[in-house]
Amino acid sequence: MTYSRIIGTGSHLPEKVLTNADLERIVDTNDQWIRERTGIHERRVVGENESTIDLAEGAARNAMSAAGVDKSDIDLIIVATTTPDRVFPSTACLLQQRLDIHGCPAFDVQAVCTGFIYAVGVADSMIRSGAANTALIVGAEAMSRIIDWSDRGTCVLFGDGAGAVVLQASEEPGILTTRLHADGAYEELLYVPYGVSTNPDKIRDGEAYVQMRGNEVFRVAVKTLGRIVDETLAETGLEKSDIDWLIPHQANIRIINATARKLDLPLERVVVTVDTHGNTSAASVPMALDVAVRDGRIRQDELLLMEAFGGGFTWGSVLVRY
Ligand code: ACO
Repeated sequence: MTYSRIIGTGSHLPEKVLTNADLERIVDTNDQWIRERTGIHERRVVGENESTIDLAEGAARNAMSAAGVDKSDIDLIIVATTTPDRVFPSTACLLQQRLDIHGCPAFDVQAVCTGFIYAVGVADSMIRSGAANTALIVGAEAMSRIIDWSDRGTCVLFGDGAGAVVLQASEEPGILTTRLHADGAYEELLYVPYGVSTNPDKIRDGEAYVQMRGNEVFRVAVKTLGRIVDETLAETGLEKSDIDWLIPHQANIRIINATARKLDLPLERVVVTVDTHGNTSAASVPMALDVAVRDGRIRQDELLLMEAFGGGFTWGSVLVRY
């Protein structure tokens, strides 16, 4: 039986740091409110001449170097992003060009904060079916570009960055299961109201911003992530106590704590980066994974549960033997 294994991770953050104190100068907010309600202390944002593709390239190169693969080994590229550089070519094709890789399939997936989980799910299916052998999967976002910097309800939450993994076919597991879901009925709770086919003028004038009914999103997120934990474990017959690390989407420390409680996992077994990254949407899970791999917390053969929830609504999980 063929599985896909994570053989390398990488991430890349823009240099510019935006602290809660910086935000106090922009909107009516304060450090204490942001820390208590979200767990965020600071986040990174792209500079004027920087964009999603720059972050994606940095993360991809770091992951390929950690995996010890050459560009000629990569036969599939998937980028998860909500903030592509262009309508087309896809960010994955732009990345392919930056990496001087030619010919292999390259495409984007758009599932907002769950995008990386979706991308891993697709790549895992392609590797297990024999359609690909070595896949480069990237979650990259410049969320600061679609934030209304006068809306204190959203601008304190988001950050920019990119994370990546290289997945390779292996006889040994590997990814044990991926669970992917969506329900478009929740469209009105979290969305950007304009798009290129409906209101191109709003896009042109830079008015296409994230709108969120945070309180309601919070409640559905906690309930849904609890359910996906149960579903993922039931699918594999594993127990909560088998999980070594929870690597959650980094939206809010209170949502993370609720999911950890559901798993009876002590917080020492949860990778938390929301304090310094904020919510980086599709980049959040792979960046958190990379942080904990590089600082030596995550070791070979440990069982990792990655999960995310985001606009759509979309939600999903990946259970992986590292
Ligand atoms: N600073 C100070 N006060 C604020 C701020 C701020 N930045 N933002 C809101 N407030 C005020 C509100 O106006 C409100 O004041 P009022 O009581 O006088 O009306 C008060 O704080 C409480 O507001 P709530 O919205 O009820 O605060 P809550 O505890 O729900 O926290 C938050 C808000 C942090 C947004 C939370 O609801 C949350 O994290 N929601 C989930 C976000 C999420 O998970 N998104 C999913 C992924 S994102 C994606 O897919 C793109």
